[in-house]
This record gives sequence, C-alpha cells and structure tokens, in this order.
Amino acid sequence: MHADSWAIKAKQQGLRSRAVFKLEEILQKTKALKKGTSNVLDIGSAPGGWSELIKALSPTSQIFAIDLLEMNSIEGVKFFQEDIINIDQIEEIFLLKNKFDLVISDLAPNLTGIRMVDEENIFELNILTLETAGNYLKQGNGSFIIKTFQNSLLKKFRLQMEKSFQLVQTYKPAASKSKSGEIYFYGAHPL
Ligand SMILES: C[S@@+](CC[C@H](N)C(=O)[O-])C[C@H]1O[C@@H](n2cnc3c(N)ncnc32)[C@H](O)[C@@H]1O
Repeated sequence: MHADSWAIKAKQQGLRSRAVFKLEEILQKTKALKKGTSNVLDIGSAPGGWSELIKALSPTSQIFAIDLLEMNSIEGVKFFQEDIINIDQIEEIFLLKNKFDLVISDLAPNLTGIRMVDEENIFELNILTLETAGNYLKQGNGSFIIKTFQNSLLKKFRLQMEKSFQLVQTYKPAASKSKSGEIYFYGAHPL
C-alpha cells in the first residue's frame, strides 16, 4: 500500500493517527501485548492513536499516557500533559515504578534542520526514554517499543538497547514511509 493510503485508511476508520498501523504491526510480530498486561506507559502519546489501540486490544489494562501537547481524553486512559524528563514528578506514575508490563514511545523531537544537532537531540531523547523504560518496567519481564530514526547515532543507541534488554529487534512497519527514516526497536526482558 502507498504510504499516504495509510493516512486515508486511518481517517476512514476514525483513528487518531496513521501511527496506529505501525504499532499494530509491531505488536502482532512481537506479541509484546500479552494477556493479563496490567500497566502500559505511552510516551509521546498525542493525538492518542497508540493509547486508543492498546485500550481496544487490552481493555483491562491501565494505560498511562504522557505528552507535551494536549490530548483529547480516551476512556480508560490517564493522560498527563508533561515533558518526559519530568515523569518522576507525576505521582500516579511514580508509584508504579517497576510495575509496567509494556512501555511504548513514539516520541519525536522538534527538528532544527541542522543534521548534527537533530541527530544529537534524537539520541538524547532516546536515551532518556530508554532510562525511563528501565525504571518503570517490571524487572526481567517487561517489553519496550521505541521509535527512532536512521542516522549516524543509531548504532550507538542500539548498543545501549542491547545493554538494557536480553532481546533487541528492529522493525520497519509497512505503514512507515521509507523516506521518513523512522525505525522501531523492540526490547524484551530488561536486564
Ligand atoms: C508522532 S507523535 C505521537 C503519535 C502517537 N503515538 C499517536 O499514535 O497518536 C510524537 C509526540 O511526541 C511528543 N513529544 C516530543 N517531545 C516530547 C517530550 N520531551 N515529552 C513528551 N512528549 C514529547 C510530541 O508532542 C508529539 O505529540
């Protein structure tokens, strides 16, 4: 399917974003959303496509979503408008340290257009998100899905993922535009 057809398909199905199809494919392949999943953390959640998908697939899960931007409410999803760097200050989430089964991140920083600066910003945000996943996932048993971008620091980030998870896999879902350079890492079994 042509990349833009995914956007049309999302609109037809009343979905909040075409990003939903990317997460759906990764979840199908990794089986990361297991039966009995109790807590899910959605980082960079607005406009809410991923949270909505998790709620539909796993209605009994508690979903916590965080974004700099506002997000229209979704029944059963607790949303916090906050920078990910301040996540520990959100008491309701902080109380669940080491209790999340799944952390998903679709974070994308604002781009400056200066390649080296943008690559560094993406890397730093990725590392911050990886550390957050490490702090909030259940030890030995959680899963992490993160969007990042193909650039000169990707290998360095993958190495950090490999130090943090027993299993690391790379995904490029069909709904992801090839020219966007976005790519997804899946980490399972935090070390
Ligand atoms: C591609 S969008 C997420 C789309 C979402 N997964 C969906 O399916 O609707 C990326 C989001 O990351 C958020 N973001 C970027 N930097 C952030 C930060 N430091 N803290 C929290 N959210 C951030 C942006 O505001 C934006 O809404």
